[in-house]
Amino acid sequence: MNTLPNRRILLIDDTPSIHEDFRKILLFDTQAEAELDAVEAALFGQEVKASAAPFELDSAYRGQEGLAMVCESTAHNRPYAMAFVDMRMPLGWDGVETIERLWQEDPRLQIVICTAYSDYSWEEVLDRLDTRDRLLILKKPFDNIEVCQLANALTVKWHMTQQATLQMSELEEKVQERTLEIKRTSDALQVEIVERKQLESQLLQADKLASIGQLAAGVAHEINNPIGYISSNFVTLEGYYSGLLEMLNAYETVEQTVGSPEVVAKLKSLRERLELDFMKEEIPLLMRESKQGLARVRQIVQDLRDFSRVDSTQQWQWANLEQGIDSTLNIVASEIKYKADIIKEYGGIPEIECLPSQLNQVVLNLLVNATQAIDSERGKIIIRSGAEAENIWIEVTDTGSGIETHILPRIFDPFFTTKPIGKGTGLGLSLSYGIVQKHRGQITVQSEVGVGTTFRVVLPIRQLVARE
Ligand SMILES: Nc1ncnc2c1ncn2[C@@H]1O[C@H](COP(=O)(O)OP(=O)(O)O)[C@@H](O)[C@H]1O
Ligand SMILES: [Mg+2]
Repeated sequence: MNTLPNRRILLIDDTPSIHEDFRKILLFDTQAEAELDAVEAALFGQEVKASAAPFELDSAYRGQEGLAMVCESTAHNRPYAMAFVDMRMPLGWDGVETIERLWQEDPRLQIVICTAYSDYSWEEVLDRLDTRDRLLILKKPFDNIEVCQLANALTVKWHMTQQATLQMSELEEKVQERTLEIKRTSDALQVEIVERKQLESQLLQADKLASIGQLAAGVAHEINNPIGYISSNFVTLEGYYSGLLEMLNAYETVEQTVGSPEVVAKLKSLRERLELDFMKEEIPLLMRESKQGLARVRQIVQDLRDFSRVDSTQQWQWANLEQGIDSTLNIVASEIKYKADIIKEYGGIPEIECLPSQLNQVVLNLLVNATQAIDSERGKIIIRSGAEAENIWIEVTDTGSGIETHILPRIFDPFFTTKPIGKGTGLGLSLSYGIVQKHRGQITVQSEVGVGTTFRVVLPIRQLVARE
């Protein structure tokens, strides 16, 4: 900030003698006063009064000339602090017009309008010049001291106004900086909140998985034993049954040779009461159905075990997921081909460090779900893959039913299913979630009802952190 006081004054008056007077008052008087002060100080041993800096006085004799000087001064960054302007100047602009123009050029200028008489009333003058806070009136004839004090007061006022403006703009700048800082902090906080929420929900999901995992392990173990002996008994029973049937058939052939009509009639009525022929047809059917049921229970138990154990015996290795997807497709292609076309858009991803068979399981679950979601008409299943920085991603998109928004948050929950009993266990996605999490990856879903669903799995190429 320029701290030197601005003492530059412009006098605009068409009467040359006025200029002489001002010069005497403002230049000579102040100089003389300063000299007197110095003499006084020398004589009486007092300190020299800190007298104000001297004025600089410039003269213009017409409004136009005055304006040119103001323009010049602002252009050179040496603005006038104040101007004395005569009201009556018959040649050219009068005082009021001159002042209007001066303010257009430099609104900071403090002005004293000097007059003995005016062509306007004071109301008219003030109405035209509505910036009254920078305008004072000096009536001729004036006292020297009036001019001197006006010059002193107004140059100081100019300076103070400047300082205030400067401080205001500095303050504003600071406020803006602060506001920006606060906004940045709040943005960062917002990001952190979102991250935290995501983390929380991941933790919650992991927690659910862990406790369900324990339960599943227990249940699987409990069911596995009885299923084991039921299955093996079943095989034995099948053998026994076919033996019994053989025996029965043999008895039937001998039946005709029985001599006693009484016995024959008894056997006949017994056969009819027991509906033996129906039984012979029905038993194999019942057995086949029970065997299917047993197989299904076995599958569920297997799923539960996979889910709880997530196969801790497997080795981490480098594998190509696109090959994995292809071999998984081989397994399910026969199921899919009746319902959907498979479109592969592989991006040629690098090998990643993983548990390959588990990731195949994830792909399998996604493919099965996609197929099951396609129901009303033939659809499409698109499998995409790609690499991005330190990660690879795969996507399975279907043109199936889509998932309603209100059930989206639950699809990764263990045992959550919308499928009829016998078709869904609700373990596929939670199992997949667990596997992806174990790989320190992410599985996300985007879905629109009636349009389709995309599952996206992002996995790090390298498992950087030491594994347990
Ligand atoms: N591709 C998909 N399209 C529509 N809904 C899906 C899809 N994948 C999963 N879902 C929904 O998520 C639920 C849970 O899936 P999942 O855990 O695999 O269990 P399940 O398939 O045995 O029902 C499904 O019942 C279904 O409602
Ligand atoms: Mg499923």
